[in-house]
Amino acid sequence: MSSSVRTLLIGANGQLGQELRQVYADHDSIPLTHADLDVTDGKQSEGVLDRYAPDLILNTAAYHRVDECEDFPARAYEVNALAVRNLAQWAKAHGAVLVHFSTDYVFDGSLNRPYTEADPPRPLSAYGISKLAGEYFIRAIHERHFVIRTCGLYGIAGSSGKGGNFIETMLRLAREGKEIKVVGDQVLTPTSAKELAAKVREVVNTDAYGLYHITNNGACSWYEFAAAIFEMAGMHPRLLETSSAAFGARATRPAYSVLDNATLRALGLDDLRHWREALKEYLADRLRTGEKE
Ligand SMILES: NC(=O)c1ccc[n+]([C@@H]2O[C@H](COP(=O)([O-])OP(=O)(O)OC[C@H]3O[C@@H](n4cnc5c(N)ncnc54)[C@H](OP(=O)(O)O)[C@@H]3O)[C@@H](O)[C@H]2O)c1
Repeated sequence: MSSSVRTLLIGANGQLGQELRQVYADHDSIPLTHADLDVTDGKQSEGVLDRYAPDLILNTAAYHRVDECEDFPARAYEVNALAVRNLAQWAKAHGAVLVHFSTDYVFDGSLNRPYTEADPPRPLSAYGISKLAGEYFIRAIHERHFVIRTCGLYGIAGSSGKGGNFIETMLRLAREGKEIKVVGDQVLTPTSAKELAAKVREVVNTDAYGLYHITNNGACSWYEFAAAIFEMAGMHPRLLETSSAAFGARATRPAYSVLDNATLRALGLDDLRHWREALKEYLADRLRTGEKE
């Protein structure tokens, strides 16, 4: 897609939104934050879409507080499914390309190898179900789409002053001198929002519409991820491994949700780095952008 393409970015202040903003800075782009547009307001969304008439819509908006979604499943469905349906309908009617993001939590984690795009989903949580419904609405409504599932996302916009992500939470707990317990029985691939955003642009440029898994490479448990963060940051907190059962989160999460970037590989585009390399870069970036500790 050429840089004259009018590009509407929804959720522009989020972790992925901020990275996409940079990646598409040379486009005729309109970055909209939650304050500018609430996607669950159908009338407002339609008005905004009509006004800007984008050729490309990048939707990063989501309700993804996974435990909260168990208590507010209707809200999860509104943001993650019904609002997405509206975007797909508008995109279909106006010939725009729709890029939308989904999650590894559409899987139940019972496989013992990375999940490809061809593996059947079976979400375990209200969040996962709502995200899968969003995927299905898009697939049913509009062919010119990219649905991109990712996993364990972290980006500079999630740095501590701006809402948090797993890395920032770990660093904060270590600074506070707290004992830190992290689950060792959920395996994933932590993924850099910066790398994902760059790859999104490459994929969108192919016009090869469809469903994609895009994560960094390698895999680890959340416990191993935490240990790597402290090792690279030169911190030595008391870090203990716990189990999902002992941790007792409200939502059930898959024990294993590593995604295989199979479609990306088939296109010759799966050159994302190992998660440890991406983590190293994030830790350097956050220091450069003002997180001093
Ligand atoms: N984070 C992860 O670990 C992870 C893992 C797998 C997949 N994903 C998916 O990746 C995508 C991006 O995630 P992220 O980590 O970048 O999330 P994020 O940092 O929370 O960004 C999402 C953005 O959407 C905005 N938003 C929320 N509800 C909205 C609404 N009703 N209308 C308009 N904007 C709204 C949020 O604004 P406010 O903060 O002001 O509400 C926020 O700026 C999501 O689709 C998510 O499901 C994330």
